[in-house]
Amino acid sequence: MTDKHGIRLVDLDESGVDRAFRSDVLKGLAQSQKAIPARWFYDERGSQLFEEITQVSEYYPTRAETEILRGKGEEFAQLIGPGRAVVEFGSGSSVKTPLLLSAIDPGAYVPLDISGEFLRAAAADLAAQFPGLPVHPVEADFTKRVELPEAVAQMPKLGFFPGSTIGNMVPRTAVDLLREMRQTLGDEAMLLIGMDLVKDEAVLEAAYDDAQGVTAAFNLNLLTRINRELDADIPVDAFAHEARWVDTYARIEMHLVAQEDVTFSVSGEEFSMKAGETIHTENSHKFDARSSNTLLLAGHWTPMERWTDEAQQFSLVLARAMIPRSAP
Ligand code: AVJ
Repeated sequence: MTDKHGIRLVDLDESGVDRAFRSDVLKGLAQSQKAIPARWFYDERGSQLFEEITQVSEYYPTRAETEILRGKGEEFAQLIGPGRAVVEFGSGSSVKTPLLLSAIDPGAYVPLDISGEFLRAAAADLAAQFPGLPVHPVEADFTKRVELPEAVAQMPKLGFFPGSTIGNMVPRTAVDLLREMRQTLGDEAMLLIGMDLVKDEAVLEAAYDDAQGVTAAFNLNLLTRINRELDADIPVDAFAHEARWVDTYARIEMHLVAQEDVTFSVSGEEFSMKAGETIHTENSHKFDARSSNTLLLAGHWTPMERWTDEAQQFSLVLARAMIPRSAP
């Protein structure tokens, strides 16, 4: 897969192994605190399990964010105005995206995703639902500045980044991403971003460790994927899912905990873990009004408005592109 500049988005070696996946896994397992980036959860099975997570009763974020999108449409329209090109970071949710688009009378829809397959399917779906709305999917790694299609060059932009995906990044990576988005979207832009809220620790831990075990299966699937794609023999049954609240960082961490001493190999490299040792697989940062504003400001976005669901579990924040000016 190459983008329009001929750059390979997924770089496979002679035997069809995703080089970035292998290097992230080998580097991450060599650290004293073993860690693998959360983006590798989303193979076909992982994406399917995430969809199932959004349906379990303990996992409130999807329902809460959808409630806000459903309920606040008129306020969005008022503040955002018509005619903006909506640039969605990630190929879009079949439920959330239409709620936004039907609320605000946009000039175009531009979904960005690194996976061309998801992207084209989502774009075709959307185009069918909104006849007359120009849809311009762009296959790109949105963690870097993206060149938007010529057709939307003259339109003011609205970035849309739902799902609290920003929460999966540590603050320095989140700030880098927000600044890249600011560059991609331009001086007239606004950004509508989902940010999950700090709440009772038990509620948070249950959301990331549901009774049905769907989140556990999602976490453990990463090991199954490594075994399949990276010629590995990790004993998946020797690991258990754990979700823990880490107050200092205001985040849920997901780990895979070795239940006994284990040794295994990945792509010809040997690793061993003691019982109780973990592989850190995901951070999910939670925010309050001040911490979300601080993150946005550091990312060169000025907060304008903030909405929460009735139960105040989740927030959607509208911000505008910061114009640098002299200040104390
Ligand atoms: C996809 C980033 C919204 O952090 O809540 C769900 C992924 N991980 N359960 C989140 C996830 C475990 C998720 N996001």
